[in-house]
Amino acid sequence: MKGVKKKEKKVKNFVENIHDEEYKKAFYRPLLTSENMVYDIGREKESLNGNWRFQIDQNDTFLRSKWYQEVKEDASGREVPLDYDFDHWEEVKVPSCWNVMNDRYFYYEGTGIYTRKFKYKNRGEDRVFLKIGAANYETRVFLNRVFLGYHRGGSTPFYLEITDYLKKENRLHILVDNRRQAEFVPMTNTDWFNYGGLYRDVELIRTPETYLKDITLQLTGQNYDGIKITLEVDGTVKDGLAEVAIPELWITDKIEIKNGCGEKLIKARPELWSPENPKLYEVNIGYNGDEIRGKIGFRDIQVKGRDIYLNGKKLFFKGVACHEESVINGKALTEEEIRENFRLAKEMNCNYLRLAHYPHTEKAARIADEMGIMLWEEIPVYWAIDFANPATIQDAKNQLAEMIQRDKNRASVVIWSVGNENPDTDERLQFMKELALKAKELDPTRLVSAACLVNHVDNKIEDRLAEYLDIIGINEYYGWYDPDFNTLVEILENSKPDKPVFITEFGAGALAGHRGTINELFNEDYQGYVYQRQVEVLGQIPYIKGLSPWILYDFRCPRRTNRYQHGYNLKGLLSKDKRHKKLAYYVMKEFYKNK
Ligand code: GCU
Repeated sequence: MKGVKKKEKKVKNFVENIHDEEYKKAFYRPLLTSENMVYDIGREKESLNGNWRFQIDQNDTFLRSKWYQEVKEDASGREVPLDYDFDHWEEVKVPSCWNVMNDRYFYYEGTGIYTRKFKYKNRGEDRVFLKIGAANYETRVFLNRVFLGYHRGGSTPFYLEITDYLKKENRLHILVDNRRQAEFVPMTNTDWFNYGGLYRDVELIRTPETYLKDITLQLTGQNYDGIKITLEVDGTVKDGLAEVAIPELWITDKIEIKNGCGEKLIKARPELWSPENPKLYEVNIGYNGDEIRGKIGFRDIQVKGRDIYLNGKKLFFKGVACHEESVINGKALTEEEIRENFRLAKEMNCNYLRLAHYPHTEKAARIADEMGIMLWEEIPVYWAIDFANPATIQDAKNQLAEMIQRDKNRASVVIWSVGNENPDTDERLQFMKELALKAKELDPTRLVSAACLVNHVDNKIEDRLAEYLDIIGINEYYGWYDPDFNTLVEILENSKPDKPVFITEFGAGALAGHRGTINELFNEDYQGYVYQRQVEVLGQIPYIKGLSPWILYDFRCPRRTNRYQHGYNLKGLLSKDKRHKKLAYYVMKEFYKNK
């Protein structure tokens, strides 16, 4: 018979799957990547957040027994005993991390099944997309008994078109597996807590048959007197006219779309975005009935020699590093928690944050745009990645592309970082050089960096990756892991970098409120002393153009087990609940005030 579509074999609930160790093979394609992304800054979205049902699944039984098929009877029509009960599973909030939702899941690493029903009613749209803001680490999506796609990467958004699978009543399953694997990015060993879950927004996007798939806005011209707008549409209407309006600049214009693309340089003199003046403009773009209305800032960031210029003015990056977590919500930060973090940084006289070690929520860049904070965003190419593995470089490249595609119109984002503290081997150089070049290719308007290690053999700043970076990031812990401050002075004097250097990490641990002498580890006086010595040395080095001490506040870290730490890394300038400012916070506040 002509090409009969092979019906997926209905699996009985029991015997047929207990011996099948190949079960997962069917659930890696289609692989969802940055290619599937739908431009969505300023697009109307419909939230599927709220009450979902949840069940951990340590044996991957959902996949082995194909629970999503909901086969309830055998061939003779007799009801079979089922081992699942979707709408009687425990109720959880989405977005959330299961680790902090319930003590019994605190250290759970494995698959978590999220499921809910939802009604759909067409409102005149031709296409519908499902967007997941992020889920750590592997995600598989099933809708109405059909497997729709697989995503890898724990910190970036992914999208899948569900137009052809929607009904009036829908059953959605999202499987999230946070098991650490040697070939993943990051791999099994990190210095932060491995949260699991559907921890960012889940939304529906409705579009016409042809919609605005990608938009790039860019300030141009030596005198910042132009805005280049690049559009890409997806659908059959590949030729037409797009409208663009920036009301506050009295701009209304048309952009011709040919073969699905269009580009136009519009004369404009926008007020430039900066930390002191975070000016944002409403930018409305429409095509074929698709509308986006975003708030966009325009600014220029460049390196010239060993200096960094924002809008043509030299700038020192007064920063601090920050993880994405809170005691209560784990990685699922609320908008208020993000604003609190940024307020605490600004109160410390910061103009900049290093969002370590992975892409934070897209809310962070939107809020930084509004509040006036420059951001370093980073992909988790952290420590000993499986640099020789082709699947690993693909995963890293895709996370980089998803991060850039998501935030490339955010004025606050000024630096893309391709990694942290990796060993200087040939495989690592090849791997990270590719990432640095890819970042430049995807976004030539921003600076590329990485947090590198000092060459402790020759005591100098020397990392072969630096050739491919605009800014050399250096992590150093003199006064903590390395006792002798004189070595720090020697390293900095030995080094002759030809481009700006950021000290992307320095610091020391202290239990909040614990006081003592400057000779006792883990008290605030010692930490404050280390900070005092650090800024005395770093403040004298002309090629150092930015600092992001490690770290704004204490964070969960299973590797940290001593009598003060109890599973927390205590290098925070604030306690884990951010209620207590340690002495070192005031050292940085004073230093930056006078910078
Ligand atoms: C490293 C690493 C951080 C880590 C920190 C520390 O430099 O980049 O992720 O938390 O040092 O040891 O506290």
